[in-house]
Amino acid sequence: MKDRIVVTAIEKMFDQRRLSDDDVRGSVAGFIDGTVSDLTIATWLGAFAARDVDFDEVKSLTDAYIASGRQMESGPRSGPVPVDKHSSGGVGDKVSLTALPVISAMGIPVLKLSGGALGLAGGTADKLASIPGFRVQLGHSELESILARSNLVIGSQTADLCPGDSATYRVRDLCGAVKSAALIAASIVSKKVAAGSTRVVYHIKWGEAGLVSDEASARGLGELIDALSRAYGIKSKIVYSAIYSPAGYCVGNLLEVIEARRFLGGHSAHPTLREEVYAVCRALLEVASFDPADADRKITTAIENGDAVATFDRWLVAQGADKEFVDDPELYFSSLEPERRPVHAKRSGIVARIDPLGIAEIAATLGSAKEAIDDCIDPVAGIELKVEVGTEVSAGDVIATLWSGQPISEHLELLSYNSIVFAAD
Ligand code: URA
Repeated sequence: MKDRIVVTAIEKMFDQRRLSDDDVRGSVAGFIDGTVSDLTIATWLGAFAARDVDFDEVKSLTDAYIASGRQMESGPRSGPVPVDKHSSGGVGDKVSLTALPVISAMGIPVLKLSGGALGLAGGTADKLASIPGFRVQLGHSELESILARSNLVIGSQTADLCPGDSATYRVRDLCGAVKSAALIAASIVSKKVAAGSTRVVYHIKWGEAGLVSDEASARGLGELIDALSRAYGIKSKIVYSAIYSPAGYCVGNLLEVIEARRFLGGHSAHPTLREEVYAVCRALLEVASFDPADADRKITTAIENGDAVATFDRWLVAQGADKEFVDDPELYFSSLEPERRPVHAKRSGIVARIDPLGIAEIAATLGSAKEAIDDCIDPVAGIELKVEVGTEVSAGDVIATLWSGQPISEHLELLSYNSIVFAAD
């Protein structure tokens, strides 16, 4: 019966007819009850992605994802409404780990549910789970009590939040429907609505290492997400960034947490990371209806006066991080005795490009990302770049360090060298 509803909807799409709310809702119910094959689900998703769907159909799909699971109630709270942020994913993207403590330090509460990631880029939940003791699986009352204590909480999405989306996410890969704006928008916004978020900044990145490859597609996706969010009463703002290089010096879970803390302490000012953090913070201040005057100066002050890093540490402790880590993250990292392999420049020159996709693949091979849902992530695995675009390098200089819990091959060293491209003389 469920199969029939799904197949009828597929036929309608093949006939260029619009799907009704009932067609979509019945189909999504079929996706999660286990009676509809992956092949049929993939055909439905492929047909949906290939059409020029109208806004009402995207809204129906979003409604169906939300209705497929539980909706979190935001408890009675006094004071400002919490803000949330979502990124479409990048390489070395630690903007949530940096922008959110800054905003929280400025007095704005932050509540975010984050997904882990399959594929090359780790999700924020994976990065946080690499911190010893840190708990990302939090129930509703724990989320609220941590928010009350540290003004910042990030938990992982639970399986009962939009299971219809999870069922489709799994097979989108199989039918080339990962990059469909309609499917991405329904997937992202449904989870924000189900999580009870009402003020959200979406950070959409484009490039060959991104979810969308060019600026026009990124803007099209942003406009759809914005319109859909408005339809659910979410106040939203979209920030766009190109992925020309990794967002920071580090790519890898613990390495990125450590870089985020260094940034918040005023010790690391990678230009791409700084630019993205400031852009996202400005947007968060806007959705929080904060006075926008002098936003950049206020952000800089929160970093320079120590409030941002203190907020970060307080938040880690509130979510269970081991004291040993919070006291000295870099000493903790060394105490794990990871394997390391320096990458040396073979010639002198100026760094012209750092290939984000190449770097992401190397970090994943070192163990920083999952290929399958049950794979384990190696918390120490990743790459620490010692250069950025424009750095002048002499032959023999260390331009990157590879880290892993496993022995590191010479081949990976060579691939890393090749991902850091020098300007032609
Ligand atoms: N993030 C999501 O949650 N869903 C998508 O489809 C893409 C990115």
